[in-house]
Amino acid sequence: MALVTTKEMFKKAYEGGYAIGAFNINNMEILQGIVDAAEETGSNVIVQVSSSALKYARPTYLKKLVEAAVEDSTIDIALHLDHGADFEACKTAVDLGFTSVMIDGSHHDFEGNIAVTKEVVEYAHSKGVVVEAELGRLAGVEDEVNVSAEDSSYTDPQQAKEFVEKTGVDSLAIAIGTSHGANKFSGEPKLEFGILKEIMELLPNFPLVLHGASSVYPEAVQLCNDNGGELKGACGVPDEMLREANRLGVCKINVDTDLRIAFTGQVRKAFNDNPANFDPRKYLGPARDEIKRVVAHKMINVFGSNTK
Ligand code: G3H
Ligand code: 13P
Ligand code: ZN
Repeated sequence: MALVTTKEMFKKAYEGGYAIGAFNINNMEILQGIVDAAEETGSNVIVQVSSSALKYARPTYLKKLVEAAVEDSTIDIALHLDHGADFEACKTAVDLGFTSVMIDGSHHDFEGNIAVTKEVVEYAHSKGVVVEAELGRLAGVEDEVNVSAEDSSYTDPQQAKEFVEKTGVDSLAIAIGTSHGANKFSGEPKLEFGILKEIMELLPNFPLVLHGASSVYPEAVQLCNDNGGELKGACGVPDEMLREANRLGVCKINVDTDLRIAFTGQVRKAFNDNPANFDPRKYLGPARDEIKRVVAHKMINVFGSNTK
């Protein structure tokens, strides 16, 4: 299959009432686990790459890996830049062949965010690439930027409408209480579904994106910790809340932390189970299998993007 933009994917997702999973990659095993799950469940998928992941894997390797995934599968794959910090980061991704970019101007004031988003939209659209922006601010760590809980803020629904109209952006990441990383809530998980409803009423069928949407499954955390890990106070967004977010209009759900925990747990276990092993395939193989299992679980039981 060819690499596609998210335009048609989102349209089908709204019509079918399901969400598209957007999964972060930084190496071959993670990409293969994701694409194998997508292929097996018959789900279209967004493969996303942060600027630091792009730097780690190196642009040419990354691009060729994704090209291989496209060639080797029958599903639709979109290649998306996650949290592009500025116009230059987005332009680099567009010029590399990404089909979708996110300009994260959420650290700017409202007018500044509009200005930089418009600039990216103009360039990306001229090359047939779609753009996601962010309004409101999530707490947590992303690409070496650490946003404290006090500096985070929910999306204002009226501003969301104005923002979309003024920028011409194709999708919008909203802040309703999720955050990046493994420690999302200090007490019970809680999302502001009222805000989501209001945004959806003002922007019917406009593609909304939920970042910081890992579930941080307790059994995955336990496996890490049972094998020498020290993940403390880990807590995520329960599957049921993600289903509700999708029901209320979210059509792209971002997951990175769950993949990191799944991968790390299996590597730790493999080392623990067999300290004499020094063959990377014997610890990266189980990690790849676990990525596939977690992604397939989400596609079938949470997002509903499966056609098989
Ligand atoms: O939203 C952030 C993603 O989890 C990517 O994180 O910048 O460490 O690759 P990263
Ligand atoms: P998590 O940290 O919850 O996996 O969120 C990932 C994300 O939003 C990537 O943009
Ligand atoms: Zn994010």
